[in-house]
Amino acid sequence: MSEQDRRGKGASCDMAAFLLRLGAYFAQGTHRKHCLMTPPVDPDPVQTPADAQTGNRLQSLPDWNYMLRECDELYRFLPAGGSDKIASHQRKVREAISRLLRANAIVSPQPRALKPVTAHLRRALDEGRQGALAPAVRALDAISPYLSWQWGYEKVPKGLQNSYAYAELAGPSGPIQSDEIILGVVLFAPKCTYPAHAHRGITESYVCLSGAVSENHQGVYVPGSMIFNPPDHLHRITVGVREPALLAYAWIGAKEDLRDQKMVFTRTRK
Ligand SMILES: [Fe+2]
Repeated sequence: MSEQDRRGKGASCDMAAFLLRLGAYFAQGTHRKHCLMTPPVDPDPVQTPADAQTGNRLQSLPDWNYMLRECDELYRFLPAGGSDKIASHQRKVREAISRLLRANAIVSPQPRALKPVTAHLRRALDEGRQGALAPAVRALDAISPYLSWQWGYEKVPKGLQNSYAYAELAGPSGPIQSDEIILGVVLFAPKCTYPAHAHRGITESYVCLSGAVSENHQGVYVPGSMIFNPPDHLHRITVGVREPALLAYAWIGAKEDLRDQKMVFTRTRK
């Protein structure tokens, strides 16, 4: 083969590689366009190290381990304000978390899912990083690409579809497997009103991580505040008009109540 032939063959290989790259470029462009035009449910879930195999444990997934330890800190150091009922709830949450840490609990990430309100998550995290519970917010930020945001209700009021979603951190459905506690975070858009609801058999607490909320018009809660809702207590949450609100929550109850909890709104009181 002459030098000219070799050059000619080299040029045709270069051209083929160029055309392949060009094809890949346009294919990627089409994918991006598709992402922009579809609802904000991630069509291409991020693969976590745990996706490849089952039975992953906390200690092999440090970001989840740090997140759970931050939840433990919330329930260890936030004041109970002299309430023995709140102190008792905090102790139960701490003990349940301690058992998960000691057992090196299984972590089974749920499929990644977004909701319209998650467009406010970046702002909520950024604001929360400036607040009293910044370490917990930073830990949440680290796992935020893997969260599965849900509405949880069979019928979600239309206004709420754009302004509310929650993501579980631990519970019977995971990601951190537990049958004695549910931990999660709930995100509200500015001006959201979360209608009156109650939890049968469940003792609930909310910890404000970012923004400001009120419950039943009885006080304003900012980062570092804890709200306590005993079982069957009807509660309605309103959110400040300028900023989103991000709350962590913990549910303690009997295993069957945690497993079968139905999320329903109550119409008896506004
Ligand atoms: Fe609640």
